[in-house]
Amino acid sequence: MERVSISLPEGLLRKFDEILKEKGYVSRSEGIRDAIRSYILEHSHLAELHGKVAGIVVLTYDHQEHNTSDELTDVQHHFYNIIQSTLHLHLDEKHCMEAIVVKGDGNTVKKMVNRLASIKGVKNVKLTASFSEIPE
Ligand code: NI
Repeated sequence: MERVSISLPEGLLRKFDEILKEKGYVSRSEGIRDAIRSYILEHSHLAELHGKVAGIVVLTYDHQEHNTSDELTDVQHHFYNIIQSTLHLHLDEKHCMEAIVVKGDGNTVKKMVNRLASIKGVKNVKLTASFSEIPE
């Protein structure tokens, strides 16, 4: 096993510890290992997406953060041909949620999700998708 040292914002770590307590973890390291496993699993799920798919991408961001809104709009304009509709919710004074309805080629959807997730200030990007053509 390898040992790594990471820096985390205090609030993030507190929230993580609360979840670990709720789930009954005794070791923070075990919790972090499980969180990384979930992250990898989610990625492999995304990697398996191919063919025609339909789904919804949900993400949150801080609209006061520099450039985040503009970059989100730029990426969505780039992928306009797979986006059916975008729903914008103002969560509170600072935070926004966007639900982007997509339909099209799985690889293109994957590319868009990765681009959105890499924008600074964008958090919790989740894709719920299914195949849009039922196999015979
Ligand atoms: Ni908003």
